[in-house]
Amino acid sequence: MELAPDVLPASNDPCWCGSGRKYKRCHKGLEGRIQPGIISPMRSVPSTIARPPYADTGQVPPINESRIKSPDVIARMRIAGKIGADILRLAGEFVKPGITTDDIDVYVHDLCIANNSYPSPLNYHGYPKSVCTSVNEVICHGIPDSRVLQDGDIVNLDVTAYVNGVHGDTNATFAVGTISQEDQDLIRITEECLWKGIEAVAPGQPLSDIGRAIETHAKKHHLGVVRAFIGHGIGENFHTDIQVLHYYDARNNMILRPGMTFTIEPMITLGTWQHRTWDDDWTAVTTDGKRTAQFEHMLLVTDSGVEVFTGGDGAVSPCAPWLR
Ligand code: MF3
Ligand code: CO
Ligand code: CO
Repeated sequence: MELAPDVLPASNDPCWCGSGRKYKRCHKGLEGRIQPGIISPMRSVPSTIARPPYADTGQVPPINESRIKSPDVIARMRIAGKIGADILRLAGEFVKPGITTDDIDVYVHDLCIANNSYPSPLNYHGYPKSVCTSVNEVICHGIPDSRVLQDGDIVNLDVTAYVNGVHGDTNATFAVGTISQEDQDLIRITEECLWKGIEAVAPGQPLSDIGRAIETHAKKHHLGVVRAFIGHGIGENFHTDIQVLHYYDARNNMILRPGMTFTIEPMITLGTWQHRTWDDDWTAVTTDGKRTAQFEHMLLVTDSGVEVFTGGDGAVSPCAPWLR
């Protein structure tokens, strides 16, 4: 957006942006919020790379996939998870002030191709880019565009690679240059929330144990838990029917069984958990404009506990500090 002036108008005076509307009906309270930039044309993927069913049409076919995966699917998901995690780590190292989120999209797109994988977000329900880049108060599904990353921003990169017929989905929030102590704490506690959720995974336990562990940790630090976006079953399809709430709800009572695969991806806020969606129908932001962070891992329920497909050597978060 245009730069706001140093001295802001009174509520009932004309807005500084020149719209002719009263300031209070226009930009009041929105200074400093993320504004949509320009979205570049959709990128293409070489025809030598295997494509998911929605790649050409944007239409996602009905899902018919077992909740319990075969050893073959599990082996392929382990590989897709490792590729997703490697790309996420490299993309995180690429983050710096002065680049655009579209630059990140080019980088991730090309890394997927270099790893013989299709960037799962591209044309998924029509999503126009190869990665989600969610800056500051953007909760999730931010579309890479011409916005330049500023020193002090935080940005979540959500990478998913489709390879050997399965998806590997993982995300993390990164600092752009030097960030505030409050933002550092938000990022750290959000990653802790993810690992608290992962530690709650065990065969025979209800799914709701995960949300309870996450919500308890967030509440202890007086942070909000976004409710509208949830973790999901995953495998040969990007999103399957398992629903992983990040807060406690006794109705989320499916029993975890060995062979189930899903993500946990809590979005934690400095203020409200309520969101609103931009006119692009994707970008979800906090209604109060306060910042939010997210971390995501894709995992398998095993006979004895859990295997984190996206958390191995070289991942952004190789292991929860207290599990080492
Ligand atoms: N990777 C996201 C998730 O964790 C989904 C992105 S869907 C997209 O579920 F279309 F926005 F890419
Ligand atoms: Co994701
Ligand atoms: Co996911």
